[in-house]
Amino acid sequence: MTHPIIGWEKETPVPENYYFNAYLNARNGRLHFEDLDLAQLFLGDGPDQGLGRTLPSPLEIIYLPVIRHRIDQMRHIFADVIAEVGYDGRFHYTYASKANAAEEVIRTTLGAGTHHEMSSTVDIDIAQHMIRRGLLTPDRMIICNGFKPAGSDYAANILRLKRDHDQLIPVIEDLSEISPLLESGLSFDVGLRQKSYGHNTTEAEIEAANSRFGLNLEALWKAADYIAAAPNLNLVLYHYMVGSQITNGDEFLSYLKPGIELYARLRQHTPTLRIFDFGGGMPVPMTLNFEFDYYGFVRQLLTTMQDVCGRYNVPVPDIMGEFGRYTTSEHGAHLFKIITAKENQSKYPWYIMDGSIMSSFPDSWALSEHFIVLPLTNLDKPFQRVQLGGITCDSDDVYPPKPSHSPLYLPVDTDNLYIGFFSIGAYQEMLGGVRGSKHCVLPEANELIVDREGENGRYKFQLLAGQSAGDVLRNLGYHI
Ligand SMILES: Cc1ncc(COP(=O)(O)O)c(C=O)c1O
Repeated sequence: MTHPIIGWEKETPVPENYYFNAYLNARNGRLHFEDLDLAQLFLGDGPDQGLGRTLPSPLEIIYLPVIRHRIDQMRHIFADVIAEVGYDGRFHYTYASKANAAEEVIRTTLGAGTHHEMSSTVDIDIAQHMIRRGLLTPDRMIICNGFKPAGSDYAANILRLKRDHDQLIPVIEDLSEISPLLESGLSFDVGLRQKSYGHNTTEAEIEAANSRFGLNLEALWKAADYIAAAPNLNLVLYHYMVGSQITNGDEFLSYLKPGIELYARLRQHTPTLRIFDFGGGMPVPMTLNFEFDYYGFVRQLLTTMQDVCGRYNVPVPDIMGEFGRYTTSEHGAHLFKIITAKENQSKYPWYIMDGSIMSSFPDSWALSEHFIVLPLTNLDKPFQRVQLGGITCDSDDVYPPKPSHSPLYLPVDTDNLYIGFFSIGAYQEMLGGVRGSKHCVLPEANELIVDREGENGRYKFQLLAGQSAGDVLRNLGYHI
């Protein structure tokens, strides 16, 4: 495999009107996010884009229209393939809120009509808030994943939420999670999660898989029997998730196939079963040489489902995906200024930026994850290979990640040079923490929420203030 392409890989300037991907393009030597001139937000030159002021660097961008595009795109693909192969079941787009639980994100996914997936107790409060605001409507399914043993706050709060919202489906991870539902006396549709993470093709491999998630086969059948015997529980969903950001469609499907067989067997045992939930894993472009045939994958998924269900003589299920990264990766960008270029006989010059790579994008140093990095200015000037350094004192606060072979090129001219990290909207902020105090006591940046009036309409902005030095100090117990 070639290395992940994380930016411009040439010394020559970027051509005018060059598209790096579906939403990042070069115009007049400046990077645009769709039609938004990102550098203008700092420099204030050129026509005002609706913000009416300039902002200091660093700056987080939350570009909401991309979330809606992604949801629409996947819905269209499923609708087309369902019609093409004559699939007798429906598709349920569900947003996995663990990828990004920010209010503007949940407001946008629910506004686009998605179902909602959650994983822990505070998620219940978010859901109740959204129900009160009329955004989480009674027709939406709420899928409760995550550990919820008897006696836990989450188990108790699921019962509370059920009283407000009927279409609630707790997914059983462990046999101990059944009793609170059983004893509540409330009528519940429930799901069962199979222990399935990774590539397990045989039942013996599934049994031996080393994962803390889900039920092994013996527990799965036991749970199905308990539920069948319970007067108030109704098994409707089977959950079989195999991983995250799986970029090879054939591999993704081969991982899922044993789960499809198990679904069909469970359906023979429990006729109320009607949803196959493949969880997360749907990949999204996080670099510039990403390729994934979404149509091909969905076609294979649905036709395999038809074949297997035909063999077991059971009806095909509705298909649910819990899309976390796919929904939110691309809506997030984080912009910085290059404050100095340092030539100290290192392999490549160090460009030092006014923020932290480590605490803004924890997966870059923890998992050597790649993100897209492009300049916002000087795209029409020569480039050189460089290394990026964050402003903390930490030797791991660098990009590309240390084991990476991906070259990073940025403009030689560092005068007013701003850069952006892109496709960072899933997990990074939640892992790095929102508010609180961060590595080397760096305050959190301002956040600019960007939306449009209509598909290509005028930009609308909402600014969320970052942290002051006083905020950081108070968090650490200094009452100065
Ligand atoms: C149960 C469950 N569903 C969905 C997801 C979302 O996965 P992804 O971000 O790959 O879509 C996760 C992620 O860990 C998960 O644990």
